Amino acid sequence: NYYAVIMAGGGGTRLWPLSRRERPKQLLRLVSERSMYQIAIDRLLRIFPTERILIVTIAAQVEALHAEFPSIPLENFIIEPMPKGTASVVGLAATYLLERDPEAVMAVLTADHVIENISLFHDLLEKGRTLAEEKHLITLGIEPTYAATGYGYIQAGASLANGYSWQVDQFVEKPDEKTAQEYLKSGKYFWNSGMFIWKASVIMTEFAKQMPELNSSLKEIGEHLHKGDADKFIPGIWEKIKPQTIDYGIMEHAGDVVVLPARDLGWNDVGSWDSLFEILDADENGNVFKSGKVISINSRNTLYQSEFDDKLVALVDIDDLVIIDSGKALLICRKGQTQKIKQIVEELKKKD
Ligand code: GDD
Ligand code: MG
Repeated sequence: NYYAVIMAGGGGTRLWPLSRRERPKQLLRLVSERSMYQIAIDRLLRIFPTERILIVTIAAQVEALHAEFPSIPLENFIIEPMPKGTASVVGLAATYLLERDPEAVMAVLTADHVIENISLFHDLLEKGRTLAEEKHLITLGIEPTYAATGYGYIQAGASLANGYSWQVDQFVEKPDEKTAQEYLKSGKYFWNSGMFIWKASVIMTEFAKQMPELNSSLKEIGEHLHKGDADKFIPGIWEKIKPQTIDYGIMEHAGDVVVLPARDLGWNDVGSWDSLFEILDADENGNVFKSGKVISINSRNTLYQSEFDDKLVALVDIDDLVIIDSGKALLICRKGQTQKIKQIVEELKKKD
């Protein structure tokens, strides 16, 4: 009764111009010939047979995702009429699971992160399952390396008797820069990896306590699932749901949260071109030329990626740039500044 639930509905605008609304980050081939989505499933197969891997996504992405991994049956796709944030993603998946199996334990996972240490990941998934059976809410915690403001922070408290997990004293989603600095200095915080493990019934109790409005929508959906007429009614119910994330909506105020430290997991959420650049193998000059035929003269620390494998590109005396060519759009950005791409995407939205 252990299920993997993959949240695969995000847009991933931070990897513009390669990621777009029609081609989200999970479909990109960023670190190998396999897409991030394929990699996310590959690493689960030792623990979860394909029948127990569920994909939550929006209608517009189902076809593309199914084509990427046909052995995940179509009936395992849980389809949101429109994205409403990760709280409703988790709630919908838990509602589906409870209809199948009242004792279901769910590992909530992402479709677009890199994990290098797969055997440690498997070990954590197993430990998380045991802790979830004991009715805790489990989060996988990453050791922070800088004062990131785009992550959740988890303050570890007392150690549990098992010696490998800690009670969570505080969960703070996306603190401001100053607070993040303090957390980092204190040495008491983990980053939230965005991966969680819990019993479907336990997280539903949290929805009832903390998000009563969403909870009653989910209850309604549950009744229709039971009657077999959910397809007809979900769109109307879904429309009224207010967007919220699981981090703000549940985790910040949940009572019994336990963190499983994931040291040495080799986790990277590939949230920007800079974080991708960090994990790719560079040549002796610090360059990564992912595609195209690049002739480089005296150039260093530059990432070049293009949609065109046969495009000839010449770089002369170039240092510290990120150059991404999608055909329709060309990005040239200073290395270390790629988080500013958000501003470009916002500019473009205004022109839409
Ligand atoms: N199906 C579906 N529908 N998936 C969604 C939706 C939705 O409405 N919204 C987001 N997702 C998926 C994304 O594709 C991604 O895989 C995952 O859920 C997390 O969403 P993000 O939008 O990437 O969240 P974040 O990066 O801002 O923050 C989360 O992840 C951080 C670690 O990467 C939080 O959990 C933070 O606390 C955490 O540190
Ligand atoms: Mg993210």
